[in-house]
Amino acid sequence: MALALEQVGVAFGGFRALTDVSLSVNAGDVVGLIGPNGAGKTTCINVLTGFQRPSSGRVLLDGRDVSALPAHRLRRAGVARTFQAGRLFGGLDVLDNLACTGVGLGLRRAESERQASDLLGWMGIAPLESRPAAGLPYTDERRVAIARALMGDPAYLLLDEPAAGMSEAEANDLAALIRRIAHDRGIGCLLIEHNVGLVLSVCSDVVVLDGGRVIEHGDRNVILGSRAVREAYLGAHTEAA
Ligand SMILES: Nc1ncnc2c1ncn2[C@@H]1O[C@H](COP(=O)(O)OP(=O)(O)O)[C@@H](O)[C@H]1O
Ligand SMILES: [Mg+2]
Repeated sequence: MALALEQVGVAFGGFRALTDVSLSVNAGDVVGLIGPNGAGKTTCINVLTGFQRPSSGRVLLDGRDVSALPAHRLRRAGVARTFQAGRLFGGLDVLDNLACTGVGLGLRRAESERQASDLLGWMGIAPLESRPAAGLPYTDERRVAIARALMGDPAYLLLDEPAAGMSEAEANDLAALIRRIAHDRGIGCLLIEHNVGLVLSVCSDVVVLDGGRVIEHGDRNVILGSRAVREAYLGAHTEAA
C-alpha cells in the first residue's frame, strides 16, 4: 500500500518545475521532502493530490493509476493535505471547519460533527471547538488545518511546511503529533519542512529535491553525509542548512 510519483514531470509553459521525480510513501511511514525554495516540493504535493496534472509520468495510489483524478476525487479516495497557508474557512468556528469538510466527503451531518469532535479531542485541542477560525493564533490554525485534513480517515496525509513560524517547543509538539498520526492511525505521511532537524527526527526516509530533480534519497545518515545536499543548500543560501 503506497502513494507514489513515478517519473513525474511538470512543465509550466517552457519552465520545467519537476523532472523525472519518483518517490513513494508507504502506509504508516513518514517520508520527508526537503530542498531549497523553488525546488518543486509544493508542486509534488499538488500532483499527488490532483491539484496539478503531471505533464509526464504517473501518480499511483495503492497500485492504481490516479494521474487523471481531480482533487476532490483523490480526497475521497483517501489522499488528504494541508496547505502552506492554513486556508481555513474563516467565517466558521473550528468544529464547523471540520464538520463541513466531513459533509463534503459524504458523511451525514451528525456523524461528521461526532468525528470532528473526536478528532479535536484526539489532538488535544478540544477547547478550540467553538472558536472562530478567523481569530486563531497561528500555531492553533495549523493544528486545526491538520485535524481537518484527518476528517474522513484518509490513508495518506501530505503536510506542506506545517512547522513554519513555530517555536522549537511547538515544532517538537508537532513532531510528536506527526509520529502519532503515522503510528497510531497507520497513515502514510509526506512531510515538507524547512526545519531539517525536525524532518530528520521524524522521517525514516527523506527525499531531497533541487531544481525539480531528486538529488538525494535515503535515511538520516545518507542525508547528513550527502555532498549533493550540502551543496544544494549552501548554493541556495537558505536558512534551512
Ligand atoms: N502555477 C505555476 N505556474 C508557473 N510556475 C510555477 C507554478 N507553480 C510553481 N511554479 C514554479 O515552480 C517552481 C517550484 O515551485 P514550488 O513547487 O512551489 O517550490 P517549493 O515548494 O519547493 O518552494 C518555482 O520556480 C515556482 O516559481
Ligand atoms: Mg512550497
